[in-house]
Parts: sequence; C-alpha cells; structure tokens
Amino acid sequence: MADLSIEINGLRFPNPFVLGSGPPGTNARVIKRSFELGWGGIVCKTLSLDHEKVKNTVPRYGKLTDPDNKKKVIGFQNIELISDRPFDLWLEELAECKDAYPDNVLIASIMEECEKDLWVEIVERTQETGVDALELNLSCPHGLPERAMGAAMGQDPEMVEMVTGWATSASKIPVWAKMTPNVTDPTLSAEAAIRGGADGISAINTILCTIGINLKTLRPMPTVEGYTVPGGYSGKAVMPIALRHIMEICRACPGVHVSGMGGVETAEDAAQFILLGSSTVQICTGAMLNGYEMISDLCQGLETFLEQHEFAGVADMVGLSLPYFSTHADLVERQLQAKREKAGETQRDDMWRGDIAKETDSLVTD
Ligand SMILES: Cc1cc2nc3c(=O)[nH]c(=O)nc-3n(C[C@H](O)[C@H](O)[C@H](O)COP(=O)(O)O)c2cc1C
Repeated sequence: MADLSIEINGLRFPNPFVLGSGPPGTNARVIKRSFELGWGGIVCKTLSLDHEKVKNTVPRYGKLTDPDNKKKVIGFQNIELISDRPFDLWLEELAECKDAYPDNVLIASIMEECEKDLWVEIVERTQETGVDALELNLSCPHGLPERAMGAAMGQDPEMVEMVTGWATSASKIPVWAKMTPNVTDPTLSAEAAIRGGADGISAINTILCTIGINLKTLRPMPTVEGYTVPGGYSGKAVMPIALRHIMEICRACPGVHVSGMGGVETAEDAAQFILLGSSTVQICTGAMLNGYEMISDLCQGLETFLEQHEFAGVADMVGLSLPYFSTHADLVERQLQAKREKAGETQRDDMWRGDIAKETDSLVTD
C-alpha cells in the first residue's frame, strides 16, 4: 500500500489533505468531525482579537453554474469576512479539539491589524491552546483590506516581511504565510515571508471577482440592499490560476514547504498541486459543495495514483513536474530540434507552420 502520510515542519500529516480556512473549520464541532472522517489536518476559520469589528452581510455567497447543469457549481464567490466568533471562545475550542485529538494536525489561521503588539498577542495566546501551527492570513481580498488587513498586507512585500517577522519572533510553533493571488508577481510576497522567518507558504487565497449581474434587477451580485463589492473567487474555475501560482512560488522558494489550494475537488486535482511542489493540499470550497465525506475518495484516489506510478509515498512525487517549465524561446528551439531529429536533416525554422495552422483551424471551423 502506498504511504499517504507526509512530515512537514516536524508535523506528521496522516495524509496530505487539509481543510482550508473558511466555513469547513468554523467551530470545534465541525473541526472534530473532520478529524473523525480522516482529514489529514485542518486550518480553522481565520480569527482575530476583536470579533466585534467583524460584521457579515446576507447574502455573502454567489455561484457560477454550468449552463447545461445548474446544479454543478463551477465558480464560487464570497464576501464573507473572518470569524465573527469571540477570540476567547475560539481559544477554548482550539484547546478542546487538541485535547480530544492530540494526533491530528490543527492549524490556527490568524489575522490582525498592522501593529506589532497585536500580532505578538494573537500569536502568543493562540499557540497556548496547543495548536500545531499558525497560518497568517495576509490574503483575504475583500472587506478586510478596507481596514488595511488581509490582502492589503499580502500585496506589499515589505509589509509581509515585517508582519511575518513579528509573528515568527513570538511563535514557538511553525508559521505558514498565506498568499494572495491578486498580485502581478506571486514570488515577491512569498520570498518576503520567507525572509520574515515563515516555515511554509500557503497559496492561493481567493481571486477578486464579480460573479455576475442579475439581469432582472440589473444589480451586481451578491446583492446586499441593492449594492455589492467585488469578492473572492474560488472553486473549480480557479484551479489553473492556482497551479500557476504554486509553480512560480515553488520555483522561487526551493526547499520551503508549500501548501497548495484553489479548486481542488478530486485526488487527480490534488496530485497536480503535489507534482508542482505542494506537499500538503488544502480544500475549502470543494468540501463546502461536496461534504466532508469526500476525504475517503480523495485518499483512495491518491493511493491509486501513487500505485499506478509506483511511488512509495506522497513525498516521492512532490515537485516532479516542476522542472518542465521553460521559456517560450526554449520551447521553439526544442521543437525545431525535435523536428530536425525526426526529419534527419536540417530544416527551415518555419517548417511546422502547417501544424500551427491546423491547430487554429480545429478551433475556428467546428
Ligand atoms: C466562504 C469562504 C470563506 C473563506 N474564509 C477564509 C478565511 O477566513 N481565511 C482564509 O485564509 N481563507 C478563507 N477562504 C479562502 C480559502 O481558504 C481558499 O484559500 C480559497 O477559497 C481557494 O481554495 P478553494 O477553491 O479550495 O476554496 C475562504 C473561502 C471561502 C469560499
């Protein structure tokens, strides 16, 4: 049997599947349930010191569905904020979860305003609960940036380094920094977090979006008293963007643990994140849409994948596809070389124009 377990920052995950921060980790009851069902770990919903400042709206979700099957959600938007539950209650519940499940990996997602004392306080008080690691939410793209938090920090590498430094200086447990995809170059903030002492990088948080316009009311969605704000896009539709971010970050930060996420629903999706260098894979929207029970299919599917490729364990496949990214000029050169080798003679470098035209034709003439 292939080995699904993996050790990261001294923590042993029974399998690489971790519930990502959000509704799936919103209180002790659901956290315990996820451990019962076999999730490798869980990142709780992001907490902050003062829950009174967190005020959610209804509705706060929007969906993009398959036009041929309205039940199939392709993309998901949320304008949900971080947890609106009291910090002291969270501390009790985190401790209770660790007491009940000492061998399961519980990661606390934390966020604060840009003040050293606040970050030191939240790190110190949270780690006392016995959680295994901290994930710094430097990436929520809506609501919180208005208070100079979340993505407002994550988009500024200097701030990422400073805030991560505050957190790591106070922390006795591993610290992962969670990145926003709402940047041009994802490597800058990831590298800054590493300079700040982060033990790992989580990516991606949601992508800023507008899910659509209600064509009856002409109001953008999700509509709150007639108005809205751009929110965070997640689910299947974001996976190709997430994979690209993981690839860039893993290339820029070799040897650093990366926890990849964005649109994962199946073992095959997760395998692609692992092949690009993630050693754990987080799932948030997928679990909201498909239920926590999906963990058994994920584990079974990954085991089958490992066996088919004759990998002894997950660690053997981490980053295996990463070396195969190159430059466009290099692709052209490789193709020219391949054609030359096949033809056994020197060829003009425009010799595959016909193939290119055929590929275009197949798209436009159907
Ligand atoms: C409704 C909802 C709430 C979320 N809340 C948080 C949060 O509190 N903290 C956080 O770091 N990420 C939060 N996220 C982002 C997810 O953890 C994840 O980064 C993102 O959704 C991409 O992964 P997915 O496609 O598997 O959901 C939230 C996502 C959703 C859909």
